[in-house]
This record gives sequence, C-alpha cells and structure tokens, in this order.
Amino acid sequence: MSTLPPSSVTAPPANGLTPPLPKSLPQSLTDRLARLKSYFGHQPAAWIVAFLGTLLGAATEPAIPALLQPLLDNGFTQGTMPLWWVPVGILGVFTVRGIAQFSSQYALTRIANDGMLRLRRDLFAHLLRADLSVFRQQSASALSNTVVFEVQNGCSQLVSAAVGLSRDGFTLVALLGYLFYINWQLTLIVGVVVPGVTTVMRKLSKRLYAITKASQKATDELAYVVEENALAHRMVRLHAAQAHQQTRFAKLSETLRRLALKSTIASSAMTPLTQLLSAAALSVVICVALWQSRDPGHAGVTVGGFAAFLSAMMMLVAPMRRLADLANPVTRGLAALERGLNLIDHVPAESSGAYQGAPGHEKTPPPSPHPPSPSEVAGTSGTTQGLVLDHVSVRYKDDEPPALNNVSLQIPTGQVVALVGPSGSGKTTLANLLPRFVPLSGGSIRLNGVNLQDWSLEALREQFAMVSQDVVMLNDSLAHNVAMGHQLGASLDEARVLACLEAANLSDFLSKQPEGIHAQVGHNAQQLSGGQRQRLAIARALYKNAPYLILDEATSALDNESERLVQDALERVMKGRTTLVIAHRLSTIEHADRVVVMAEGKIVEQGSHAELLAEGGLYARLHAQGMGS
Ligand SMILES: Nc1ncnc2c1ncn2[C@@H]1O[C@H](COP(=O)(O)OP(=O)(O)OP(=O)(O)O)[C@@H](O)[C@H]1O
Ligand SMILES: [Mg+2]
Repeated sequence: MSTLPPSSVTAPPANGLTPPLPKSLPQSLTDRLARLKSYFGHQPAAWIVAFLGTLLGAATEPAIPALLQPLLDNGFTQGTMPLWWVPVGILGVFTVRGIAQFSSQYALTRIANDGMLRLRRDLFAHLLRADLSVFRQQSASALSNTVVFEVQNGCSQLVSAAVGLSRDGFTLVALLGYLFYINWQLTLIVGVVVPGVTTVMRKLSKRLYAITKASQKATDELAYVVEENALAHRMVRLHAAQAHQQTRFAKLSETLRRLALKSTIASSAMTPLTQLLSAAALSVVICVALWQSRDPGHAGVTVGGFAAFLSAMMMLVAPMRRLADLANPVTRGLAALERGLNLIDHVPAESSGAYQGAPGHEKTPPPSPHPPSPSEVAGTSGTTQGLVLDHVSVRYKDDEPPALNNVSLQIPTGQVVALVGPSGSGKTTLANLLPRFVPLSGGSIRLNGVNLQDWSLEALREQFAMVSQDVVMLNDSLAHNVAMGHQLGASLDEARVLACLEAANLSDFLSKQPEGIHAQVGHNAQQLSGGQRQRLAIARALYKNAPYLILDEATSALDNESERLVQDALERVMKGRTTLVIAHRLSTIEHADRVVVMAEGKIVEQGSHAELLAEGGLYARLHAQGMGS
C-alpha cells in the first residue's frame, strides 16, 4: 500500500472556521492506522471472526473455477460425472461463502461502531475540557461536523475499505495461488500488472488526499453559513439580506461541487487505468496459452485447464480493480478520522492548578438561597482574602491595542465594586479574567492570596456565580437551567429552585406556566422575554450561591418595570457577597462600596460615587449623560 502525503496540503484558513492543521503527522500509512488502534483494537473476538470469515470467503473464490475444470474435462469431454454433483458442488460453495461473508461483514461493522462510540465519547469529553481558545479558532458548525459527521463518515469509509481489503486481498492471494498451481508460467505475466496498478494508485491517492482536505474545509464553511442564517434569521429578513446570503451560499456550494467532481475524476480514473492494464495482461496470457497448447512440449494444457485458468484470471480483475479503488475510502476515511484525532491530540486541555480552596470551604453550596454573611461565604476574614489584580494586561490580537492595559485593582471580601466606563473599555474582559475564560497576557491575579493559575479550575470556578452580558440558556426545563450542573448526582432540589426563581422576581412568570418549573424554555430560552431571561440568569446565580458574584448588566433594553424587577433581584443576590458589578444603573452604583472607572483598557478613576462626582472627571461626565443607559 502506498504512503499517503503529509497533511500540509491546505494552508491554515484565515477566517478561523476550520480546525488548525497539525504541525506534524505520522508519515506512513501504518503509523496513521496504528493511531486508531486505541479506538478500534478492543475486540479481539470480533477481529478473529472478521479475519476467519474473510479468509474462508476468499478460499471459496477459486473453488468456482476449480469446479469448472472437472465439469468441463469429466462432465462434457468424458461424460463420467454424476449430475447431482453439479447443484451440490455449486450450492455448497455459495453457502459457505455466504455465511463467511455475512459474519465477517457483521464483525467488522461491530468493530467500527464500537470504535466510533469510543472516539465520539472521547471527542466530546475533550471538547468539554478543551482550552477555550478552540472555540475562537473553530466555529460551532466545524466542531459539530468533526464530532458528528466526520467520525461517522471516516468510520464507514474505513469499514468499507477494511471489508474490501480483506475480502479482495485474500481472494487475490487465493486466486493467484490457484493460478500458480495450474500454470505458473502464465501466472508470472499476471504478476507484471500488480506494480503497475500500485503506481497508478499512489499517484492518484496523493491528489485525492488534498481534495478531501479541501472538501472538509468547504463543508465547514457551508455549514457555517446555514448556522449563521438560522441564528440571524430575523435580521436577514428585516434587512432584506436574503439575496446576499443566497449568493454566499451558492458560491460555497459551487466550490464543494467542483471539489466533488475533481475527487471523482481522480478516483474514477483508477478503474479504467487498471482495467486497461488487466486487458493487456489478458491478451498476452491468451496468446501464450494458445502458443503453449500448440507446442508439443506443453501437452498438459487441456481445454478444461485453460478455461479454469482464464475464468480464475478474469475473476482476478474485479478484486484487483476494487483494491485499486481502495485508496479512495482509505484516504477519505483517514482524513476524516484524523480531524477528530487532531482535536484530541493538538487541542490542549485547560491548564489547571492543584489548589482546592481554603480547608473547610464546602464544595457544594449549602441548600439555602438566602444570602450568607460575608464571613460565612469567604471562609475567614483576613488580609489575603478577596481578589487582587496586579498589573494585568490582556491582548486579544497582536496587531490590536490591548483590551486591558496594566490594570491593578483590589476587591476585598464583602465589598461591592462597580465597574463603569464607555463601551469597549474592557469591563467584560476584566470580568472574564476571573473564572479564567480569557488568558492573561501579563500581570497576575490572586484570589484569597493564591494565584489563579494555581487554583484547580473546578475549585476556582466554584467561587464565582456570573450573570453575563449575553445570557445563555440550555434547551431544557426552567429547573434544570437554574440548577445547572447540579442536576446530576444529587437530585434536583425543587424547593430551592422555586425559592431562587421567587427571589429573582420570576414568581409571576412561573405562575403562568402550566408545567411550573418543568416548563421547557426552548433554544437559548427564546420563549422568554429579555427581562425574564435575565432574571432566570440571576436565579441561576442565586442557586449556585458562590462567594463571588460577577454581574455584567445589560439593561438598556428593559423598560422601567422590568428594570425594577431585575434591580430588586440583583440587590437580593448581591447581599453578603463579594461583588464585581459592571453597572449602568445609578442605583447599583450608589450602593457600591467603590466605583472603578475604566477607559481604553485602563483604570482612570476610583472612589465612591460622591467622591467621583465631586472630582468632575470622566465619571461625572458619564453620569451627566445618564451612564449611557
Ligand atoms: N473575543 C475577542 N476577540 C478580540 N477582541 C475582543 C474580544 N472581546 C473583546 N474584544 C475587544 O476588547 C475590547 C474590550 O471589550 P469588552 O467586551 O471588554 O468591552 P466592555 O467594556 O465590556 O464594553 P461594553 O460596555 O460595550 O460591554 C474591545 O475593543 C473589543 O473589541
Ligand atoms: Mg461588556
């Protein structure tokens, strides 16, 4: 089998939709197949059945021409063969062949599907703990393509290849053995064909691999357009952008069509080329056989013997052609599976420290939605408690100014710190640093005296409840959205869910739901209003009952009534917790212990509401403009 080309055929895409290509891949085909062993090598019994089944199936193949020889020589020429011998012989051969083929095919499919299950489970598990950068580099549709479609595609291609390889490979060996047995001189001629076929295969499979990679990328982009249009369906209609989207889709579909045609050209060229080689060999064989039969030195060549030889040789063509085509599914299948394997091998898991938090701090929050006292949640009081940001910088892209530039800030336990500033000044970025959703480019952050990098990620994230600017809900019930992450293991605490929903001012909404807390919220809770979604997010934060609270308010869309409801709920959730609130509302800021004003990634002012107003700086200006809300 040929060596396939390295994967560096397509350049890394600029749009970041497709997976980054790995720097190095094992070069040889056997290396690449060996990589799959951990997924597909777990079923020795199935492998043995598959092996024996194909071996047996292949062994029956020369039995058909072998039957032909006595049939012709004894049956016709000498007339000595009993007639019942014919159906028994033929049916017998086909029964054995059928059983052998069935069991080997079943065993291989079993191996493939079990392996696929394992690979998919691993892929998804890896995705759940992968470094967050993977979600910036790859679109959701590219990831789901990898996990759902490519794995399936790769497995079925490889199974068909494995079935073909074993069946046709053994058949070829069996037929060649038989041919050699009846006439070795003629068989040598057949031997010339094989290297020819291999060369053709090697050339074409190289090209096929490149095309497969390009098709994967094009499929991702096509899926991405559909994903995006499903997401933005309202805006697309409102702005009459259908025509543009249609063109965008059509262009990408056209690319895919062209690639499919190219791939077909490469793969279908193999069949006629190999057939041509076989035909050449066939004509030579017939000539030599005729010459042999006329030569008195080769008296052994009988009509039956030659007919058997010819039919065995003709039977050789089909498996040989299929073997030549095998490069096609092997190449495509490997390319598809390697996309999954690369996700596992080349996307690192999130780095995590070992620090588990102060001893005595409960892992699961106490079953009360009511705010705990500061000392209760923080464990102890003391100078090292709280959050300390030390000369922190964040840069998303090298060619852009930093989103956070040398920011130092202290948030002692129990305090409410309000973060205000113009849009794009880095407030959300700062909030996202705390649960390590965004990597630091410089400086350090300590929580309770311990560097964030040294915290175990699980323990660190247990410290924070977050209501983010863009609320994200799962397509599940209200209860499961509120108790997110707690529904497994410990059974769902319905009373607590109810109390949290009530504290988040959602009782009215709840009373209108016939199914109560088990009402489904739909995709990203789009069956709820903006204010309801926000209050649901607050209920979720309340349920988590974490010592630190991060609130990224986005309330400009709310009317006075829902704003009051949200504000009420927020005040309840903030009580007794260390809170970082990105504030737009005056009421929040007035209650804050300290207001931090940001501009262009820097802290420009700090102090109480009154102090900052008196200072007459940016804060006073923002305040005069109504805080931009
Ligand atoms: N994922 C990202 N990739 C690249 N740049 C980003 C990313 N997220 C934010 N930025 C950039 O970082 C800067 C700060 O963004 P950030 O979201 O922190 O602002 P903000 O203060 O929260 O603004 P707003 O009040 O509008 O929510 C902006 O210039 C933004 O363009
Ligand atoms: Mg923001």
